Amino acid sequence: MQLIGTIYGEVKPTEFEILLINPNIERGSYVKIDHEQYGWVLSKIDTIRRYISAEDQEITLAKAHAIAYKGEKSILVPKIPFKPEERVYLGDRKLIRQILGLKKSKTNNIYLGLLEGHNLTVYLDVHKTINKHISVLAKTGAGKSYTVAVLLEELLDKGIPIIIIDPHGEYSSLNYENDDLESMEKYEIKPKTYANKVTEYSPDIVVNPDAKKLAIQPRFTLYELIEIMPMRLNDVQKSIVYDSLKRLEGKEYSIQDLINVVRMDDRRTKWKVINGLETLRDSGIFEGKAVTEEELVKKGHASIINLKGLEPKIQQLVVTKIARDLFEAKKLNKIPNLFFLIEEAHNFCPERGFGEAMSSNILRTVASEGRKFGFHLGVVSQRPARVDKNVLSQCNTQIILKITNPNDLRAIGQSIEGFTPGMENDIRQLSVGHALVVGECVEQPITVDIRTRKSRHYDAARFTPKKELEPGMIDKIKPIFLKEEVKPTKKSYWDKFKSIFLKET
Ligand SMILES: Nc1ncnc2c1ncn2[C@@H]1O[C@H](COP(=O)(O)OP(=O)(O)OP(=O)(O)O)[C@@H](O)[C@H]1O
Ligand SMILES: [Mg+2]
Repeated sequence: MQLIGTIYGEVKPTEFEILLINPNIERGSYVKIDHEQYGWVLSKIDTIRRYISAEDQEITLAKAHAIAYKGEKSILVPKIPFKPEERVYLGDRKLIRQILGLKKSKTNNIYLGLLEGHNLTVYLDVHKTINKHISVLAKTGAGKSYTVAVLLEELLDKGIPIIIIDPHGEYSSLNYENDDLESMEKYEIKPKTYANKVTEYSPDIVVNPDAKKLAIQPRFTLYELIEIMPMRLNDVQKSIVYDSLKRLEGKEYSIQDLINVVRMDDRRTKWKVINGLETLRDSGIFEGKAVTEEELVKKGHASIINLKGLEPKIQQLVVTKIARDLFEAKKLNKIPNLFFLIEEAHNFCPERGFGEAMSSNILRTVASEGRKFGFHLGVVSQRPARVDKNVLSQCNTQIILKITNPNDLRAIGQSIEGFTPGMENDIRQLSVGHALVVGECVEQPITVDIRTRKSRHYDAARFTPKKELEPGMIDKIKPIFLKEEVKPTKKSYWDKFKSIFLKET
């Protein structure tokens, strides 16, 4: 046992100070103290300060709080203070694991990384981690996608079917081995490719030539169709769309069939509707054979839905259709339990006041009802304040990396039970790749140094598609939402600048 100091001054049941004799103790370290009634109690160092005393001696004092001890049946919080001047030792692995609820072996558990400040592997129970949904939240660049990829590798290793909503096309790097061997040593892992466990789909195979074509079935609700029309429809046009969809109800139809039905309408303003539908038809996103739910959701397999290059409304349409179809299929038990990950969740289920998305409804439904059916959600965002609170608060496990924005911190505080100012402070100070893990998978919030990936992390500069573009592909997929025309000004900004500031002499 390594003695690190003694309790100093007044002691409260869970708050006290330690006079440190070991200068190498870090903030966040776990220590243990033998309590006369409870036995070993695990405690954590919150802050450390050093100063010169009146007797001219250097003093190192730490503020700490008692976490818990192992009672007969469960983990309990001490109610009686420690004896003043009691000895304090560095926490040992067994006690730390026991009190924090960390698993001992990697079999059937998620290997997330190392407990910060201790060379102790963090293995989490798979089901407790994902069953009641999980969120991964952090400011941009703090390591969300990296952490998510570690989670995905672990879930794939355990055979859990995964759907990845990937707006930036970054998860296909699971296909390649990580070549950063040096950093793998610390975490004792080996490079691995997931190429035979991953299929990448995209509605736009021009931008994403390595992906399989994902065709969207043109089965719309009135709301969806109005949302994705390339122009705003007036009330008469909306009623034309409504009547036409009604006539096709229960039938298999293509966009062309819908156009033909609209043509039969007597109202003159139908031409604008027809024009919009033709733009949708010619975009190419509805072309091709639809992928079945059984193809998308398979044991030990991840389907990446690469949305790179698609306009936001079409991205939302794809997410709506896939989430809705899979949720229906899951309710009927046509597919196995699955993990459904959404990157940039603030774009697919925004909080009120931060935009609208047609995918909000189904994602809210999945968040509140999904767990009953084995439809497990993973919500990833760099702007937690902009994610629908109904969705965020349903996530029982939170992996939070560095966040500094006060609104985002507030949103996190509101969605976590027992969130403390101390936790908020910890989140502000996290380093890249370090995460606070909160939820049922741990007895206490813990800070994890997330392990290195086995597969390569996406780096846009290093990534080149394997396939060449086939001739004619470019013509197939066309933009749907036409950008507003920018009228050329008579003089460009540069010309004006030159004429004012760089007058030739
Ligand atoms: N656990 C980690 N181990 C090693 N490097 C990491 C780790 N986490 C993050 N990084 C580094 O930080 C960079 C940014 O991480 P990542 O791409 O996950 O950020 P992000 O939070 O998803 O950002 P964005 O909001 O822009 O998507 C990575 O390219 C990687 O170099
Ligand atoms: Mg990212």
